[in-house]
Amino acid sequence: MNDHKGRVTRDGIRIYEDADFAGMHVAGKATAQILDEVAELVFPGQTTGAIDKYIEDRVSEMGATSATIGYRGYKHASCISVNHVVCHGIPGDKKLKDGDIINIDVTVIIDGWFGDSSRMYVAGKLSRKSERLIQVTHDSLMKGIEAVKLGNTFGDIGHAIQSYVEAQRMSVVRDFCGHGLGRVFHSPPNVLHYGRPGTGAVLEEGMFFTIEPMVNLGRAETKVLADEWTAVTRDKSLSAQFEHSIGVTSDGFEIFTLSPADKFHPTY
Ligand code: MF3
Ligand code: CO
Ligand code: CO
Repeated sequence: MNDHKGRVTRDGIRIYEDADFAGMHVAGKATAQILDEVAELVFPGQTTGAIDKYIEDRVSEMGATSATIGYRGYKHASCISVNHVVCHGIPGDKKLKDGDIINIDVTVIIDGWFGDSSRMYVAGKLSRKSERLIQVTHDSLMKGIEAVKLGNTFGDIGHAIQSYVEAQRMSVVRDFCGHGLGRVFHSPPNVLHYGRPGTGAVLEEGMFFTIEPMVNLGRAETKVLADEWTAVTRDKSLSAQFEHSIGVTSDGFEIFTLSPADKFHPTY
């Protein structure tokens, strides 16, 4: 509709067209539907491999494609990150224990459009300290999303997340960030979950990207294990993450990966 759409900004960020929101909406909704369904598969004694198998089957039943299978040699339809695993946990045979908190991250492709989202789940009983971590992480994502307005910058998003998390005496992971997506999985910009107001690229209508803050109860530092995927907190403290795929609109944002059953938050 506007002639400025369909271009790429000086920062390399694609400005999608009005019609492209529909494709993202479909891909995002399928991702969220799968994340809704897996909630009942998370319980003590369950393996993360069995959860991943369910996800892989559902992705193909929906006529979608997994974006992660075959991505840089990754072999699974999800990343499942337990307790002190920050992100990119590899599903496997290990059984969940009572009180484990897990992030499940799913990315699907439908008609060439990518939907990428993750949420926290608990196996069995949630401890008070895990509950607080999960609440703060969820709320930090929502504060980041609320900063998505025309004229604001990516630094405003990062600042909203960082200032909230640090006021709760938790830390924001610096080693991983959100990303542009759309017809590609990871594209500019890097969406940092920390930063200074007014810095970075200015938000424009038609930008599509993820916000996916990782928050640690202890220090922010992470390391990647010998499997070259699993990222853990260096101090072994618990870590949580939530992720939405969103688009910038004339009056703010659209969240593509909203939960159809309103189950995004773990204590629903
Ligand atoms: N879904 C992750 C993200 O939020 C990326 C996972 S890549 C994988 O960007 F290969 F580890 F699956
Ligand atoms: Co992502
Ligand atoms: Co993801």
